[in-house]
Parts: sequence; structure tokens; C-alpha cells
Amino acid sequence: MALFEKKEIKPPIPPEQMPKHVGFIMDGNGRWAKKRGMPRTFGHKAGGEVYKKIMQYCRDIGIQYASFYVFSTENWARSQAEIEGIFRLMREGLIDVQPHVKEGVRWILVGDRTKFPQDIQDSMTKLEEDSKDNTRLTSLMCCNYGGRAEITHSVREIAELVKQGKLDPADITEDTVNEHLYTAGVPDVDLIIRPSGELRLSNFLIWQSAYAEYYFTDILWPDFTSNDLDDALRAYAKRGRRFGGAE
Ligand code: FPP
Repeated sequence: MALFEKKEIKPPIPPEQMPKHVGFIMDGNGRWAKKRGMPRTFGHKAGGEVYKKIMQYCRDIGIQYASFYVFSTENWARSQAEIEGIFRLMREGLIDVQPHVKEGVRWILVGDRTKFPQDIQDSMTKLEEDSKDNTRLTSLMCCNYGGRAEITHSVREIAELVKQGKLDPADITEDTVNEHLYTAGVPDVDLIIRPSGELRLSNFLIWQSAYAEYYFTDILWPDFTSNDLDDALRAYAKRGRRFGGAE
């Protein structure tokens, strides 16, 4: 084997058992920083590094879609300093991930981006545009995202079509609602992972997670590693998913 040959990464579970779409609630950054006597933004910075590692690992083991909760519609209630800190990390992150465009990763920014500073919106659009033909991993970045806001957005678009006489209310189905979500075209989430010991969904992908499996762990997001993802995937592979049917 050549000295610098890339190490082959062995997925923790067989490909046919791999979830197609995994969602990550990147929680615990603030507590991680507090334990070290550091400001919350220090924890978010560490969390952003973990995002990059986990995103790459998802790509390498054959997960097709990975959603990351970066900034929720409720996070505007945080201090201006913390919000500015997250904006700074988003700016850096949107540039940092550019090299991975060549490695098959596609980015989709999910949520109402119009509330972010214009330069961040422009970088988001550029990253989506530059990576739109990639097919190895789709990394969905949920920014100013809330599941209820997303469903409301979908309903508003559908109502507009009805108003214009283009759609009969009797023809509205679950697929119609799905097609107007920010995640239109993306398969439902199979597995949602929430670290940091909290046992909540916090408005994350609430439509798309109707049949998702959940995995909770006490590890704080900045400490989360590919081994922890392996544990979650092994636990997922043992679950019997019946989607409301019987065995
Ligand atoms: C939740 O932890 C985390 C957030 C609200 C922000 C997530 C942001 C990042 C990981 C950085 C930016 C990432 C990218 C990919 C550019 P918390 O602050 O609620 O933690 P706590 O519950 O311990 O207070």
C-alpha cells in the first residue's frame, strides 16, 4: 500500500440498511463552552468543525442526505453577540466547505434566508449553484428554519395557486404539501440524532420525520465523533420500521 494512500472507510452497517437521510440537531455547544469557562461562540466554533467532519464521514460511508440544524426560527431570541458570532461562523463555513464541491457534495440551504445579511445570502446562493450537479451527499443546512414556518410557507404557496384558479382544493394531497416544503424532492428523514441529553424535536423537520427513528445521546455536539455516528447507525439498523403496517 502506498504511504499516503487514502484509508478505506468501512461503513458500520451494510449499505442496504443505511438510512438514506439522517438529521442532526447540533445541540450542546453552549454547555460545552461553559464547561471550559469560554463564551458560547467558542462552542459554536467547535460545533462548526464537528459539522465538517461529520458531513465528510456521511459522504464517505454512503449516506445520501444529511440535514443539519444550524439556526432555528427561535434562535433570534439569543443575544446580539451570539447571533453575530454564529453569522461569522456561517460566513467562514460557507467558504471553508468550497473545496468539498469537487468531492461530490451538494448543498441546499433550507429555511427563510431573507432574514440574513445580504453577503451571507449571496454566499448561500453561490454554494448551491456551484454544487447543484453533485450527487454523492446532499448536505441540507437548516438556517432560520422552523418546521411550523416551513409548513406555513407551503400552505401559503398552495393557497396562492388556489386563488389563481390553478389548483382545486379537492386535489390537494400530502404530496402537494410536500412539493411546497423547502425540502421538496428530498426523501423523508429516516433517522434524527440529537446529542446533549435533550429529548425534544424542537421544530426540526416535523413534517418529514413522521416515521423517523430517533437517537439521543448525552454527548455534547462539539464532542460528537464518527464513532458516535456509527453507534447511532448500529442502533438504527436494529429497529424494525413498519411505517404503520404489520410484520
Ligand atoms: C445549539 O447549541 C447550537 C446552535 C443554536 C448553533 C449551531 C451552530 C453551529 C454548529 C455553528 C455554525 C455551523 C456551521 C455549519 C456554519 P446550544 O447553543 O443551544 O447549546 P446549549 O444547549 O448547550 O446552550
